[in-house]
Amino acid sequence: MPNKGKAARPSEKLFPDANGNLFEKSYQEQIEAERAQPVECLGMTFENDDARRDYFLDKLREMLQDPEFRRIEGFPIGEDEDILALSDPPYYTACPNPFLTDFINHYGRSYVPEEPYLREPFAVDVSEGKTDQLYKAHAYHTKVPHLAIVPSILHYTEPGDIVLDGFCGSGMTGVAAQWCGAAPSEYRRKLEDEWKKAGLGQPKWGARKVILNDLSPAATFIAANYNLPFEVGEFARAARRILDEVEEELGWMYETLHTDGRTKGRIEYTVWSEVFSCPECSGEVVFLEEALDKETKKVKDSFLCPHCGAKLNKNRLERVFETLPDPATDNPLKRVKFRPVLIAYTAIGNRHEKQPDEKDLEVLDRIRQMPLPAEIPTNRFPIEKMYHGSRIAPKGFTHLHHFFLPRAAQALAALWRKVIRYPNARIRHMLLFFVEQASWGSSLLNRYSPTHFSQVNRYLTGVYYVASQHSECSPRYILGGKLSRLSKAFESHYTIRNIAYVSTSTVAALSISGNAIDYIFTDPPFGENIYYADLNFLVESWYRVITNAQPEAIVDKFKKKGLPEYQRLMQRCFEEYCRVLKPGRWMTVVFHNSRNSVWNAIQEAMLAAGFVVADVRTMDKQQGSYRQVTSTAVKQDLVISAYKPNGGLEERFKIEAGTEEGVWDFIRTHLMKLPVFVSKDGRAEVIAERQNYLLYDRMVAFHVQRGVLVPLSAAEFYQGLPQRFAERDGMYFLPEQAAEYDKKRLTVKDVETPEFAPVDEFSAIRWLQRELNSRPQTFQQIHPIFVRALAGWQKHEKPLELSTLLEQNFLRYDGQGEVPSQIHGYLSSNFKELRNLAKDDPDLRAKAKDRWYVPDPNKAGDLEKLRERALLREFEEYRESKQKRLKVFRLEAVRAGFKKAWQERDYSTIIAVAGKIPENILQEDPKLLMWYDQAITRSGTDP
Ligand SMILES: C[S@@+](CC[C@H](N)C(=O)[O-])C[C@H]1O[C@@H](n2cnc3c(N)ncnc32)[C@H](O)[C@@H]1O
Repeated sequence: MPNKGKAARPSEKLFPDANGNLFEKSYQEQIEAERAQPVECLGMTFENDDARRDYFLDKLREMLQDPEFRRIEGFPIGEDEDILALSDPPYYTACPNPFLTDFINHYGRSYVPEEPYLREPFAVDVSEGKTDQLYKAHAYHTKVPHLAIVPSILHYTEPGDIVLDGFCGSGMTGVAAQWCGAAPSEYRRKLEDEWKKAGLGQPKWGARKVILNDLSPAATFIAANYNLPFEVGEFARAARRILDEVEEELGWMYETLHTDGRTKGRIEYTVWSEVFSCPECSGEVVFLEEALDKETKKVKDSFLCPHCGAKLNKNRLERVFETLPDPATDNPLKRVKFRPVLIAYTAIGNRHEKQPDEKDLEVLDRIRQMPLPAEIPTNRFPIEKMYHGSRIAPKGFTHLHHFFLPRAAQALAALWRKVIRYPNARIRHMLLFFVEQASWGSSLLNRYSPTHFSQVNRYLTGVYYVASQHSECSPRYILGGKLSRLSKAFESHYTIRNIAYVSTSTVAALSISGNAIDYIFTDPPFGENIYYADLNFLVESWYRVITNAQPEAIVDKFKKKGLPEYQRLMQRCFEEYCRVLKPGRWMTVVFHNSRNSVWNAIQEAMLAAGFVVADVRTMDKQQGSYRQVTSTAVKQDLVISAYKPNGGLEERFKIEAGTEEGVWDFIRTHLMKLPVFVSKDGRAEVIAERQNYLLYDRMVAFHVQRGVLVPLSAAEFYQGLPQRFAERDGMYFLPEQAAEYDKKRLTVKDVETPEFAPVDEFSAIRWLQRELNSRPQTFQQIHPIFVRALAGWQKHEKPLELSTLLEQNFLRYDGQGEVPSQIHGYLSSNFKELRNLAKDDPDLRAKAKDRWYVPDPNKAGDLEKLRERALLREFEEYRESKQKRLKVFRLEAVRAGFKKAWQERDYSTIIAVAGKIPENILQEDPKLLMWYDQAITRSGTDP
């Protein structure tokens, strides 16, 4: 690792970096040495890195001519030469990477079923490391910081293992994989301490190999540059020289006369205001001139028309268009009108502001006469297929070049021209990575934000939005500071060759052999919040290599993709993930919650693809701890841990499918994957996944997703579970896990059970189970407590009387015969006078009479059958109902009905009843969604 000069010993030979700081020799020397030395790549030796690149560029060029290769799903849209110009094969290709299999063959480890591998799920805090300079070196939509990913990679993998992220965006998973080898000692110490405290083992430091993939060339280009080594010093010097040259060439465009009338000032930014017209007198109103309060720097709610004095506000103003010749199309350009209103500049060592004077306007006029530089892309946005098309087209922005004012166009083009001529390909790519970051900030999307000191990158993220006030920044103002920060960040980021391979394609078609990947960390698109392909279009137009949006996993009505299409696309991606992952290995999915229905679509896609979910957690910021997610209603970001079932289980399951043995085999294998003991602040946590009802759900899902009948009813399952597995605190364990749990349980004072309220039949039963388990009660006792606990019954859920809930799920002691053990245990430990009494003692019987209690598993079976009959009767009514839509119903009845119909292969009943219940209920209930999806697929009525 490089060390800052101050910390280095004076006797060592030190090297200056771009900012004059001194570096330990090792870092610089390694790079120098690497450059001069022969290069090993995929088993071949090249004279140097340029020879390596030339060789593989030729290979890629050949492949690009093969129509089959270009037919790979998700192949980006671009000419061969443009794809080649961005690529640095075999490490990075701006198209599907044809060298991934070679990479795996050379550097991966084959799957050996006998090799022991045991890990528990591991949660990550996705907000950790958001201030890190390396993380901030390049922005991308919804980035997950590498420091949040490092602990997961350390937990699930060994040095040299291969990690995959198919939705890699800016490639933070790759940075994390490399960081596992390059982390500084203080970071290592801190993490080791934390792990020790949490009872985790010692992490194995050392870089992991990584395959990064994304559909978008803009994303993979960022990812590649983050993850491939380059010489920071050379990059920094080249970037600075380019900024200087552009300033020299175009400096006159950014000069202004200081208010002293003599001194030349250097413009940092020019503020432009949209021009409107007054609805009363039709006079032109320059918005900022009238609306901006110069003192408070805020836009006033109302202001006066400078012509007729009418009281105006933004909503009353009428848009004014100006018609300009469009240099790139045959049509005139009719665009909203902007006028310069303020110049911020430096002169005599200070920052000043002024209104543009005659000379400034003359300069702007001169620039306007210049031809549009050839480097500026002039392609048309796919407006009709873009979510934000209706925001930009009515203001006159339909083509790329419309977003750049003449001076910004000249400046950005000059930067681009110089960068693409830089001779060394690796440095050239880094320079593009750097300059590209000015493309949004130089465009009319950059808003003027008077209350902020810096006007750099003030565009609204995630949308195309042209505001009424714009800051047109000079190249140095945008990029000068960025260069220092970026160089500094990369100085401490030690990347090595042959570690990261980057590909541009859809996850649904990775060119990777099966069972090859050791761990997947992934942050997929989540529904309809961010339109990646649309947003990346601006930058990709500069590269002339554009995302092929067809396989983009997104909800977007303008691309005719609804939730079902999204789910299907995600399922195909997860199927591919499942294919390439080694059996028994883990996948961590980060999900930024938007809607519950999207969350369910993701879950369903994952399960249908063959994964088994073992843990779902959120980060509780206030408590600084992870919380399990047990309900379907989630508002926070989630971290899902899922595994590909161990090869042995899948193989055995083929023989055991639909038998009782298959059920218990699954449960045994699943229990092996679950955490054994989780504690926080001296309290153990009830691990939801180990509770009987969740084990049952997972078992059912495992069968259903494989098209196999579930051989046990819930009651039979609940009865069989304690016969085969050890029960502790309401959770189930394998024998050796139970021993470990018991040992660790002694180290805490008690077990924390998560609070929840009854909001529907299912949660009400669980709530009553918990309440009665700890204290068998009479109806009179439990009624007020139950009513108080109710926290708003779900609107669609049929209201149920407490008496019905009790009768259908619990038993009441009628005072006859022996007092049931559960009541006996409770009374004898809570009432002194009832201690040591026989079970048929009259006093005990009297006290126990009419108390409701939780049936033991043998009796529960009978009750369950009764309840199921009642539920199925209710379901039958829904099926026969002539009502088009059922407004209120028993969700449990629909679940039971769907399950029965599925077992009987009666898919049409499922589809018919699903059509009667509100769509959002279907999409937000994972169980219903599962039956419904299966029915649709198996009946061949896939819409
Ligand atoms: C949430 S972002 C990932 C951001 C990333 N975690 C980071 O730190 O930069 C999701 C990514 O998925 C990509 N994507 C969407 N559909 C895809 C598909 N079918 N195959 C591969 N990538 C896809 C988008 O281009 C986007 O970059």
